Amino acid sequence: MAKQIALFNHKGGVGKTTTTFNLGWMLANKGKKVIIVDCDPQCNLTGMVLGFKDAEDFASMYTSDAVTNIRDGLAPAFESRPALIEAVDCAPIKGQPNMHLLPGHIGLAEYEVTLGIAQELSGSLVTLQNLPGSLYYLFSKTADKYNADFILVDMSPSLGPINQNLLMTSDYFIVPMFPDYFSAMATESLASILPKWAAWAQQGKKLPILQQAIYPFPDKHPKFLGTIIQNFRVKKGISAAAFQRWIEEIKMGVQTKLIPAFSENNMLLSDELYQKASEIGSDSTQLSLFFYNIASQPLLQLSDFNTLIALSQEHKAPVFDLSDEQLEKEGIVLEKMKKSMIKFRDLFSDGAERIITLTENAESY
Ligand SMILES: Nc1ncnc2c1ncn2[C@@H]1O[C@H](COP(=O)(O)OP(=O)(O)O)[C@@H](O)[C@H]1O
Ligand SMILES: [Mg+2]
Repeated sequence: MAKQIALFNHKGGVGKTTTTFNLGWMLANKGKKVIIVDCDPQCNLTGMVLGFKDAEDFASMYTSDAVTNIRDGLAPAFESRPALIEAVDCAPIKGQPNMHLLPGHIGLAEYEVTLGIAQELSGSLVTLQNLPGSLYYLFSKTADKYNADFILVDMSPSLGPINQNLLMTSDYFIVPMFPDYFSAMATESLASILPKWAAWAQQGKKLPILQQAIYPFPDKHPKFLGTIIQNFRVKKGISAAAFQRWIEEIKMGVQTKLIPAFSENNMLLSDELYQKASEIGSDSTQLSLFFYNIASQPLLQLSDFNTLIALSQEHKAPVFDLSDEQLEKEGIVLEKMKKSMIKFRDLFSDGAERIITLTENAESY
């Protein structure tokens, strides 16, 4: 059974999409079969993988009746068609045979309101009983078709019903962060919203009407894998010291607000398992001494990708796996870029290993 991991923060521009692509690629490098799913109606992930121009006419590229994106995949449920939801024909990813993209669709946004009504779990539920389990069903079907080990779910920056559903029907979740005021504030709102979502899912799971649906609402208990903090300079003139201050602020917020909220709502793995994962890699050793709960330590901390990000997007390749030719430089400059690339490769490798450790031992710890 594929493990579903949601990448969620209702704040935009924190690296959700970039991380989905790069982390997915690294898991695939390690022999895992990965499906990355674009659940943001903005379709940034789809644009990144297929090229922004191709993404626009992606649907029209297919003349057959094949289901090729998330919206068409869900249509049987949301448009009450007699046909069952089928696995999506995912887009292959050049250079990475172990990873596929389940493309996004701008029209996914049109399903938000109906799903919201269904998720109120009120009287109107009878006619809408098949909706709350339909996203999970679509991803599972698709994962089966591709024999996937991991489904990485890239989400939109919102607290809407689709995200509520995606998060609460995942097995695990990661919270990407950017070291600024807004991410620091986001830890507070997440600490108040996620327990509410968890309570809602608990209630939904017990309802016979959702259990008996064509697409039953799955019995999931999503667990927190950790945060990913990226201190790239979107705004010029932010000093390293300012980043560091916000990183400390975020870690404090995670430790004092998020972790306790997750703990109360059964959204954490065991301390021993977080400890085990934190021992993977190079720069994680001393952190465990600082934090009472090891879960508050970031899963991954990344600095600015600099020029690598533009080249990554241009060549549709991960920031850590660009060829000399793709780096377009020579001599000392090339060597410098390669050094930086290898640093990111090691970091993503550590992050992927931690995720594998956390998810493969979740039951036994
Ligand atoms: N580590 C990084 N270094 C430099 N730029 C980055 C880094 N991570 C993300 N970016 C850039 O920042 C922007 C926002 O990232 P994105 O992954 O789209 O965030 P989100 O999906 O959370 O909105 C994008 O333009 C992306 O290319
Ligand atoms: Mg995004």
